[in-house]
Amino acid sequence: MDIFVIQGGRRLSGTVRVSGAKNAVLPLMAASLLADGPVEIAGTPRLRDISTLGKILEYMGASVETASDGGDGREVVRIDPAGIRKPEAPYDLVKTMRASVLVLGPLVARHGRARISLPGGCAIGARPIDQHLKGLERMGARTSLSEGYVEVETSRLSGAVICFDMKTVTGTENLMMAATLAKGTTVLSNAAREPEVCCLAGALRSMGADIEGEGSDEIVVRGVPALRGVRHEVIPDRIEASTLLLAGAITGGDVTVSGAVPSAMDAVLQKLAESGAEISTVPGGVRVRREGPIRSVNVETSPYPGFPTDIQAQFMAYMCLGDGESKVRETIFENRFMHVAELRRMGARIDVSGNTAEVKGVAALSGAPLMATDLRASASLVLAGLAASGTTEVLRIYHLDRGYESLENKLSSLGACISRVKE
Ligand code: EPU
Repeated sequence: MDIFVIQGGRRLSGTVRVSGAKNAVLPLMAASLLADGPVEIAGTPRLRDISTLGKILEYMGASVETASDGGDGREVVRIDPAGIRKPEAPYDLVKTMRASVLVLGPLVARHGRARISLPGGCAIGARPIDQHLKGLERMGARTSLSEGYVEVETSRLSGAVICFDMKTVTGTENLMMAATLAKGTTVLSNAAREPEVCCLAGALRSMGADIEGEGSDEIVVRGVPALRGVRHEVIPDRIEASTLLLAGAITGGDVTVSGAVPSAMDAVLQKLAESGAEISTVPGGVRVRREGPIRSVNVETSPYPGFPTDIQAQFMAYMCLGDGESKVRETIFENRFMHVAELRRMGARIDVSGNTAEVKGVAALSGAPLMATDLRASASLVLAGLAASGTTEVLRIYHLDRGYESLENKLSSLGACISRVKE
């Protein structure tokens, strides 16, 4: 297993390019199941979650090819769904990635049947999929559970009015995809507003779908008989961009993330500015600079456009070095403080009570061997390691590889001393 070895204390500076958004690529890959022709997703990063979903699509009979796309390390994933014979996603693959559930809606809509292993809980919470299933039932599908698999069947889905009990990103994406080929109109209310939902809606529209309202909390989909193949460019990864800006801020550096879209990162940029970092929009990107102390600020996660849960762990690492007290409240997932125990081992002072962590800033963190527990928690440990004195080792970085493309190379290009070694 690979580990990261970090010599902390270097100030990062320079420009780094953001990759395409993992959480936008995954639904686009699932959407290919709806099409009558090949779908090309351009600007995809090289990530384990993307190859896992590729394997699931291949298992079903699709052909999946990845090729380089005009240099710069960019790739294009080309999926031809013509050979789909087995609308099933097996346990061995689903267990490594919950987002596999995204194939459910497209399979039922296009093939009238889906059988996918029920994703279990994961490191950050129980994460049920009841909203996905209730929505499909409202559209006329029968759902059942057998031998750990969810089975969904219907002759043809019918449009319905579906009000989500809570904002769910993949739930909104799944039902939006299902509705594109349903008979009649579907209204999704209390829908998620994330940029990744909008990216998917844009691709579906280019495939011939009739969708409006994405980006608001009511999405209306009028079903069409068929969808065609498409080439679609994926949006930049706002979570990776925010993580890289935090790497600049935590080291007192000067970092520009090119390709980052500031409007998609408002909540994070505002908190960075409140913390004393100087944020500026530069042509084609966002720049962060910090010279003074880190001011402690409170953050509370909430669905987009609120502060993303996917940046909570990284921001907490930053707050560990704040000049006062900061409250970090997690409202989306019930178990997303796994990084706290590891940060404490570096000298951080954090008390957790329910869904709130109280972080009392310390003057310095010290390097230590650390265990990564989930994707974003791993990134938080890397940030802490960059700012700490001495050597930090981050173990089990396979979690990080699920969602960050060559993070060590990007950070090294900014002057960090970080390397990947075999344990
Ligand atoms: N929920 C339910 N029932 C459902 C669906 C969701 O109770 O049927 C609950 C969840 O347990 C959670 C809340 O609703 O408490 C929100 O979950 P959501 O469904 O929005 O999460 P998700 O769609 O499974 C996506 C991202 C996550 C990100 C969350 C929240 C993808 C592939 N994953 O997950 O990304 O944290 O939205 O923004 O888009 C990551 O990239 O590290 C990651 C975990």
